[in-house]
Amino acid sequence: MSEEGFLQQEPGFATKAIHVGQEPEQWNSNAVVPPITLSTTFKQEAPAKHKGYEYGRSGNPSRNVLEACLASLDDAKYALCFASGLGATTALVHLLNAGDHMISVDDVYGGTYRYFNKAAVCMNVETTFVDATEPSKLEKAIRPNTKLVWLESPTNPLLKVIDIKKIAEIAHNRDILLAVDNTFLTPYFQRPLNLGADIVVYSLTKYMNGHSDVVMGAVTTNSEDIHTRLRFLQNGKFILSSLGIVPSPFDCYLVNRSVKTLPIRMREHMKNGLEVARYLEKHPLVEKVLHPGLPSHPQHELAKRQCYGHSGIFSIYLKGGLSESSEFLKALKIFALAESLGGYESLAELPSVMTHASIPREEREKTGVTDNLVRLSVGLESSEDLIADLEQALEAAVSTDAAFRSKLQ
Ligand SMILES: Cc1ncc(COP(=O)(O)O)c(C=O)c1O
Repeated sequence: MSEEGFLQQEPGFATKAIHVGQEPEQWNSNAVVPPITLSTTFKQEAPAKHKGYEYGRSGNPSRNVLEACLASLDDAKYALCFASGLGATTALVHLLNAGDHMISVDDVYGGTYRYFNKAAVCMNVETTFVDATEPSKLEKAIRPNTKLVWLESPTNPLLKVIDIKKIAEIAHNRDILLAVDNTFLTPYFQRPLNLGADIVVYSLTKYMNGHSDVVMGAVTTNSEDIHTRLRFLQNGKFILSSLGIVPSPFDCYLVNRSVKTLPIRMREHMKNGLEVARYLEKHPLVEKVLHPGLPSHPQHELAKRQCYGHSGIFSIYLKGGLSESSEFLKALKIFALAESLGGYESLAELPSVMTHASIPREEREKTGVTDNLVRLSVGLESSEDLIADLEQALEAAVSTDAAFRSKLQ
């Protein structure tokens, strides 16, 4: 068991992050850092006789080294990169046929919700949203045409932890595929394929790149069939309906570089995140802290059984509503009021009007995404400075907001 009671990390992760797919001997120059290959086309020795590369969309050396490294981190056979996290989601949904049904966690990332509810339905793929912390609710939502279960664990933005092993059993008993969006934890803190998932999805934009300067997504799997079908969709070369949603070689270079420091960054995000969460849990203006690493979290025990740790992302309920949350967020000086998460810099946002605004108010509030729910992405700054920033912003919100002030009395 690790210091905070999570699973003990197995040795070798950092070595894989630094070396897998990066062998200098694959380049004529023996370059230790993989070069960025910008060429969109590759010379052939004879028609259709080449060294594995034909056209930049079909395959690119900078993308291949990253995909090899990502696969190893998830203990997966295959990984594919896409132009964004949502691009990876789009490709996955295209594995389904018109008339198929999917089940998703109810407080899924707003963009994923929008894609399922507004775009996938146009392909006649319907989604039912359920609270998967109770696996029986998910089981009840299964229909004869259900083909895919979509989990986020922890969920965005309520940090609910789902029993991945249990859901995998339920899905596999009915020949349903299980996909897990592992953006919040990365393979360093959770490896869903080892818990029974068939597919893992990432917004690499977040912790995996960690520097808030690339938008990219990825999928990992052990299934040759899923890999082949997704590879076809990624490439988009042969038929019009293929998607062709590939990332640029320069972005692949950046993410490949960032993954080298993933273990150290994640350990520091976890340490800072827990310090900030423990501070906020004692603050009189904070109603509740939703952090799976705290004993107060309803699935704390499950998180410790299933994960190797938790990142710097968590949410809090302030005592108040939209005006109190807004005053607090506007007063922050180190935390930037911005969407996204997982970078070295701390961010704060209001899901109800920002990342999750596309979910109708009534549905949002039913799941708990109310106007006093603030999501924090704790970065790598000094934790004392972050705590002081939160302290001054809470005080500033109190002094400008009479209702908030009354909650202190
Ligand atoms: C959990 C989660 N999954 C997927 C996405 C979509 O990823 P991208 O923004 O890279 O398209 C996001 C974006 O915020 C996210 O938070």
